[in-house]
Amino acid sequence: MTSVQSGLTIRPFRAGDDLDAELDLRHRAFGPADLTREQWLDELHACIAQARLLGVWDGAELLGAVRFYSMLQWWHGRAVPMAGVAGVKVAPEARRRGIGRAMMRALLDTLAERGYPLSALYPATARLYRSLGWEIAGGYYLAEIPARSLVSLSPPDPHAAAGGGAAGGAAAGEQVRVRRAGPKDAAAVIAVLGEVHRRNADCGPSTRDADGIARWLARPEMFAYLADDGFLAYRWDGSDAALLVQVIQAASAQTTRALWGIVGSHASVARTVHAAVGPDDPVGWLLGEADLGFDLHEAWMLRVVSAAAAIEGRGFPPAVRVSVPLLLADSEIASNAGPRTLLVADGRGLLRPGLGAAAAAGSGPPDPVVLGPRGLAALYAGVPVPTLRRAGLMTGGSERTDADLGAAFAARSFSLDHF
Ligand SMILES: CC(C)(COP(=O)(O)OP(=O)(O)OC[C@H]1O[C@@H](n2cnc3c(N)ncnc32)[C@H](O)[C@@H]1OP(=O)(O)O)[C@@H](O)C(=O)NCCC(=O)NCCS
Repeated sequence: MTSVQSGLTIRPFRAGDDLDAELDLRHRAFGPADLTREQWLDELHACIAQARLLGVWDGAELLGAVRFYSMLQWWHGRAVPMAGVAGVKVAPEARRRGIGRAMMRALLDTLAERGYPLSALYPATARLYRSLGWEIAGGYYLAEIPARSLVSLSPPDPHAAAGGGAAGGAAAGEQVRVRRAGPKDAAAVIAVLGEVHRRNADCGPSTRDADGIARWLARPEMFAYLADDGFLAYRWDGSDAALLVQVIQAASAQTTRALWGIVGSHASVARTVHAAVGPDDPVGWLLGEADLGFDLHEAWMLRVVSAAAAIEGRGFPPAVRVSVPLLLADSEIASNAGPRTLLVADGRGLLRPGLGAAAAAGSGPPDPVVLGPRGLAALYAGVPVPTLRRAGLMTGGSERTDADLGAAFAARSFSLDHF
């Protein structure tokens, strides 16, 4: 898709476009690079091959660029295609003239055309993204753990030893098989992480495509391990005798222990472990001492690009059965707007046009819940309804609809990937 606005051309990068101009823009916008020039070029070529890098040109001059990753985001046990937006930048001399907004507007059109129900990004500034319907939805959290606390984990409770469990994986006492993983294991990593997120009914974490995972695991600084039901990836963190655990996810108690055991084995050299985990990660219950530090490192924003597809693709708690009338507004994506009825049953959701189903189910006339794209994004991600109301992101409805929506979308959303 190419759009021309006030003499500017916005279109995907093509093979042959000047990538040095992109790297120069990146350097000016974000400072010294965390990757080498070759790694960046590799990244950009992969984006160009899939038309995931958009640029804004004034004639031959590149004034702005943005890329996105094709990801799967897990929502209560189900994976929804999500575009992870990164590297939003405009040349310093061209800022505050509406170029950033025009570029993000074009990106939103591209994501809608290409059928992504969701998009997420880490905002360096929120105003631009809010104006197009992204809203704060979840966090990238970092646990800080003294490495020595991981050396002897708190043993399982003997009172709970007799039962089986829904999680599966290695049985109690059974040796967990853990092996080194590398770029060739990308498909297995996606499959294992997906299965872990499904079983744990996680909300928010996402996986990249196989090519993206292979390039990440090919970096010489990364160490990765794979088990039947778990995955660990970490690296040394600067020069501070610290480890940065980028992913440590497992389904069973045995694999959870085995993976943290590998991290803890570094305690003679590493003093501190920083680990990207969700707010309810079991590590807090595994440490011998209550010395877990936990920080919201950065918030991320979500955009519901297709309300119908996003609701149909998401998982919901199986016991929840609700029918809620909604009045959706969306000044950017007209197909999301209008009266709808949210139906949730048997772990699935549906957004039906009109308010009919809810009116038939209820006794009185329905007072629909009124949401714009920002309120819908935050609700989708599990932001509590009282928070949405007090933030001015939701009106209408009743105490009953508040309780229903709260039960359906309840989540403590987190991300493990900082894109
Ligand atoms: C952020 C950035 C992309 C915005 O580009 P831009 O062309 O200046 O943006 P626009 O002129 O289209 O402005 C769009 C809206 O964002 C607001 N905005 C732009 N830059 C802003 C900033 N630094 N802080 C707060 N608001 C900002 C504008 O006021 C405008 O809102 P308004 O219409 O309500 O007034 C650009 O400043 C940039 O490249 N910054 C450095 C890199 C960066 O921070 N990228 C974001 C990574 S998530």
